[in-house]
Order: sequence, then structure tokens, then C-alpha cells
Amino acid sequence: MRMPLRSSQFRTPFPGDPLAGSPLVLGSPAHKELFCRSFIDTHRKFEPEEIPWPALEWEDLQRLKGLPVWNEATRTEAETAVKVQALGEREKDPLLSEAIALQGYEEGRHAKIIRLLTERYGISVAPFPDPRPPRDATWAFLKTGYGECIDSFFAFGLFEMGRRSEYFPPALTDIFEQIVQEEARHILFLVNWAAYHRGRFALALRPFYDLWRSWAVGSELVGHALHAFTFGKGSSQEGFEMTTHKDFGEITARGFLELCLSENERRLSVYDSRLPRPRLIPSLVRMALRLMPKEAVPNSGASPDADLAKGGRS
Ligand SMILES: [Fe+2]
Ligand SMILES: [Fe+2]
Repeated sequence: MRMPLRSSQFRTPFPGDPLAGSPLVLGSPAHKELFCRSFIDTHRKFEPEEIPWPALEWEDLQRLKGLPVWNEATRTEAETAVKVQALGEREKDPLLSEAIALQGYEEGRHAKIIRLLTERYGISVAPFPDPRPPRDATWAFLKTGYGECIDSFFAFGLFEMGRRSEYFPPALTDIFEQIVQEEARHILFLVNWAAYHRGRFALALRPFYDLWRSWAVGSELVGHALHAFTFGKGSSQEGFEMTTHKDFGEITARGFLELCLSENERRLSVYDSRLPRPRLIPSLVRMALRLMPKEAVPNSGASPDADLAKGGRS
């Protein structure tokens, strides 16, 4: 059974909405208020130490230990926390600073949850040096955020595949539901933060801002594509999201991409419909699906659900 998303109160219009009926101008104080408040008000308070980790059967434990993600996940979450917190501290606007600092706190919490999980289940993680704050916190936030847009899109599909096929016991999957949904909030915040700053520039300067943003997106796309192609050929665990879907059950490439699209839409649908959504990766994937030859789909006509029913617990 799919767990309900918990932010449905931010579907619009909501009772007492001061912006109801008026168009949202990107870069306006109302836009800032809306995307920051939506983010802050959907934060869930909990302590990682309170998480009730379930006891696992031997087979589930081996599956968990065998996932090639732990080094990368531990390091990335810790680095992301430091980068985001750096911008939160530097930001002069109190509301933006509060929202960014909260995101930094959530990233730090992700890092702590993964550390607690590896300790609880005896998973060894390679040591890494303490992450250092970036020299340019704004650029680091932008690049990291666009990287999250790419990772999250595929992670949403992977997570749903794992949930449907019961690759892990539901008690464990449910714990990670919260983290996955927090990443949906993070990417929504990022694209609105970028759109807000763009909207505050004079029209003549916006192309320069777009160029700067495109450089961040492009470098992240190239970096992720290279990691995906080299995944499994060395010691790196990066690129897991784009290459590991086969481990969670039988599904075609088309089925996987369609699942990523629908999950991306579902996870973001619970937030205010006036806020711009991440568009690039979903658009590229829709284009790829249109270009994908039908004969390249061996189980043509089978739904992702049908495909996934073949995977799962044995
Ligand atoms: Fe995270
Ligand atoms: Fe995040």
C-alpha cells in the first residue's frame, strides 16, 4: 500500500490564501513568501535517533549490504549539508536564510540517518575527510541543486520500483519515504530560488543569468552522464540511480522512464500548483520516450506494474 504524501495542505487554493486568484509574478515578494513558506511549513520534525530500525532477515541484510551506494550516499549527503548551510549563513534575507538553513539541516539529517543505518546493520563505509565550506556558496548551491534535480528524478522511479517489488521489507522502505519526499521539496525550492533571483534582474540582464544557470545545469548533466557510463567499471559508486533499476525487478527502459515521470509528477503534485517545477529532465525524458523505437521494447504493452510484479521478494 502506498503511503500518503503528507503535504496536501499546500494544494492551492487553500483557505485564507492571500494570493488566491492573482497570478504569481516570479521574483516578486509574494513569490518569495510562497516558495519559502511552502518549504518551511512542510518541514517535518523528528530526530534520527528515534527511528525504529527493523530487524532484518539474513537475506534482506545481504541485499542491503550489497547495494553499491553507501560510500557515495554518506559522502554526498555530508557534503551537500555543508554547501547548503554555507549559503544559509551567508544569505542576508531573513526568510530565504531561514528556508536555506532548514534545507541544510535536512541534508545533515539525511547524512546522520544513513550513518545510523550503516552502523545498525554493520555496513562498512569508507572514511572521507570532513567536507569544507565552498568558496562560492551561491554557485555551490546552484550546482548541487541541479545535481539533485537529476538524481531525484531517477531516484523517485527507483524507490517506487523497490517499494512495489518489496525488494526490502516495507518497515525499512517506509523510513526512507520521508527522505525521498524531502528531496522533492529540495528540488522544488531550488528551481523557485533560481526563478526568484532571475525575476529580480532587469530584463536585459536575464540572458546572462540564464547563461550562468545553464553552465551549472550543463556541467551537472555531463558529470552525471559520465558517472552513469563509468558506473561499475571502477571503485566509484556514483551514477547508481541511472544504472541500477534492473536490480529491483524486471522492467523495460521505457517502463522505468515512464515510472520516473509519473513519480516525479506525483511527488511534486502536493505542493502549491503556482510554483514552477523542475522541467529539464522530465522534458528530456519525454523526448527520449518519443524517440525510443517501439520494437526496442520487448514487453510492449506490459505496464510497469506488470513488469515489477515479476521482481521482488523471493
Ligand atoms: Fe539529501
Ligand atoms: Fe536534498
